[in-house]
Amino acid sequence: MNFYGRDFLRILDFSEEELRYMLETAKTLKRFKHKKKNHKIFPNNNIAIIFEKTSTRTRCSFEVAAYDLGMGVTYLDPTGSQMGHKESIADTARVLSRFYDGIEFRGFKQETVNTLAEYADVPVWNGLTDECHPTQVLADFMTIEEHFGHLKGLTLAFVGDSRNNVANSLMAMSAKMGVNFISCGPRALRPADDLVEECRAIARKNGSTIVVTDDLRDLEGKVDAVYADVWLSMGEDKEKWGERIQQLKPYQVTMQLMDRLKPNAVFLKSEPIFLHALPSFHNLETSIAQEVYEKYGVKEMEVTDEVFESDRSLVFEEAENRMHTIKAVMFLTLYKKEKK
Ligand code: CP
Ligand code: NVA
Repeated sequence: MNFYGRDFLRILDFSEEELRYMLETAKTLKRFKHKKKNHKIFPNNNIAIIFEKTSTRTRCSFEVAAYDLGMGVTYLDPTGSQMGHKESIADTARVLSRFYDGIEFRGFKQETVNTLAEYADVPVWNGLTDECHPTQVLADFMTIEEHFGHLKGLTLAFVGDSRNNVANSLMAMSAKMGVNFISCGPRALRPADDLVEECRAIARKNGSTIVVTDDLRDLEGKVDAVYADVWLSMGEDKEKWGERIQQLKPYQVTMQLMDRLKPNAVFLKSEPIFLHALPSFHNLETSIAQEVYEKYGVKEMEVTDEVFESDRSLVFEEAENRMHTIKAVMFLTLYKKEKK
């Protein structure tokens, strides 16, 4: 397996073995971090992290992971560089490659991160685009595996806007890792057919299935982990809130839904878990949630506060794992093994 110098743009670009190795590396780095063991492996390296969209977890994960690995970091905020408006993506990539050893990019078009990767001489890591969120799902699968002790044969259900970036990457990761995946949401928001077909072919080889449905009853009795994400993603028109609420309200993750996922779960000690990429609109404690409430009267959106705050919810473990998995991706793509 050779990761050195490679970009991390999509889950589909990596084999099951490579993704497994990333998860194992993340587990080792997590142990190092918890034991406060020095792992400043790259004291002479620097990275640039570019954000066209806002972020808490991804930005902090890249920064802390880089510091832990001994690297310097430059953060370019949504207005902080010339990229795109005054300087082309290709030119920016070629300039930054002269300064930095790796580049993270979060933004709108997948094409932008692809172009950065094409022109940069150093690894480019995708920190989220409209199309996918590959570093997120590494953390999600690490969290699922930590909880259940394995991945193969489990069933993960994504409920909501099933064609968004997180849902797309979860489907790809499930297919690669032999996890059954149920994509559940309204027909108008179902995932693209070509992505479903590609993932189904991969899943078939790995012994799992991909189901696309608009019927929540298809989740009953089967699901080990249920995943929700915001109903309107960054970059989407705020005018769409009304329509999305109407489309997605029936797909809110409630305690009643959690209870229907696995009969006898309490008895069998296999209660389904709840996951979410975060940030989440589970109460009115944010300005956007407040605005939506005033306009549409909705107090909780993709998940109820009850589920979010319950012991079935592993969202903060998941958030922590963002840092360990991002560190693993940086470590693997920057570390050059000495030739013997
Ligand atoms: N989950 C996630 O990517 O969070 P941020 O938007 O805060 O980075
Ligand atoms: N689908 C969400 C994920 C945020 C981490 C968005 O793109 O806004």
